[in-house]
Amino acid sequence: MAAAEGQWVLMATGRTPTNIAVIKYWGKRDEALILPINDSISVTLDPDHLSATTTVAVSPSFPSDRMWLNGKEISLLGGRFQSCLREIRKRARDFEDKEKGVKIKKEDWDKLHVHIASYNNFPTAAGLASSAAGLACFVFTLGKLMNVKEDYGELSSIARQGSGSACRSIYGGFVKWCMGEKDDGSDSIAVQLADETHWNDLVIIIAVVSSKQKETSSTSGMRDSVETSPLLQYRAQTVVPGRVLKMEEAIKNRDFESFAKLTCADSNQFHAVCLDTSPPIFYMNDTSHRIISLVEKWNHSEGTPQVAYTFDAGPNAVLIAQNRKTAAHFLQKLLYYFPPQDNDLSSYLVGDKSILGDAGL
Ligand code: ADP
Ligand code: DP6
Ligand code: CO
Repeated sequence: MAAAEGQWVLMATGRTPTNIAVIKYWGKRDEALILPINDSISVTLDPDHLSATTTVAVSPSFPSDRMWLNGKEISLLGGRFQSCLREIRKRARDFEDKEKGVKIKKEDWDKLHVHIASYNNFPTAAGLASSAAGLACFVFTLGKLMNVKEDYGELSSIARQGSGSACRSIYGGFVKWCMGEKDDGSDSIAVQLADETHWNDLVIIIAVVSSKQKETSSTSGMRDSVETSPLLQYRAQTVVPGRVLKMEEAIKNRDFESFAKLTCADSNQFHAVCLDTSPPIFYMNDTSHRIISLVEKWNHSEGTPQVAYTFDAGPNAVLIAQNRKTAAHFLQKLLYYFPPQDNDLSSYLVGDKSILGDAGL
């Protein structure tokens, strides 16, 4: 560290979109490494609408590691943040900024503390996968700051240890997280099935039913399901493997009918597992159920599915329309039945499927 102690601050900023699973991850076989009990498939969203933006700073004047989320300080002591920090620090490389007179040797990174500030441009912990965007961005930006080699496979595996769904947010487009078989997690990896240019006439509408923080986090909810739900074992072992194969085919062939049927069925089964958990977990509310009915009736009246719905661990609806025309038509209907002024459907966001090819700016 060549510059005079405490006289410099080095910063990096990154932005990472969230991803929404169309075949859900729910249940771990290893809590520490975050290894899932089934494969999952997701779509990475448009970062202009749903993303985390994180700035990481390092300076010899910082006495400890600290983090602020949406302006409020949060503890970095939790295992998930520590695992990611440790893994990134392990891979840090020599860095030099001649203009600032800063030279950091590989081994010096361990002695330096970080300050991290992150903002989500969408509701946090409300079932729109903030942990996916947040932890992927955390890893990506720390990696950028510490001059870690930009190896997406490696960054994705580190992000997985922060939040399972985060391993998919490192890639754009359609992404599959293969559960893997090994105990060390080395084959539990995310792979891009198709990039963001594939099937880009799909339109995603997010109906924010409630932006409140959910009562049961995904981490504790899925732990309870693993311990108590007999339906979860059946789902993971018997149902999901077939669905994953069919979903891959549907994506490859841009087969919206199959895509929509699988997406809706998988969301419904995931919420059935939540109900099958003891004590039961209620992520959806009455408005969520009414949105499902509206989509089901609309699809039925049209003869073939026009819109797919999926709900993560929260009440907010993610609606996927086949194209802009259908999206506009459906949005009109949604606004008619759920006028924003007299219910809790607080906002709508419309975006293209996915924009970024990678997780960084
Ligand atoms: P969600 O459905 O939004 O993913 P989770 O229960 O899975 O909800 O995770 C929410 C947690 O994810 C937050 O309490 C916080 O610990 C973490 N998180 C969310 N956003 C960020 C972010 N931008 N940076 C770091 N961590 C984040
Ligand atoms: C319903 O990735 O948030 O969104 O690994 O414990 O951090 P942890 O859980 P998280 O779980 C996501 C569950 C889901 C489905 C999905 O994204 O596949
Ligand atoms: Co999450």
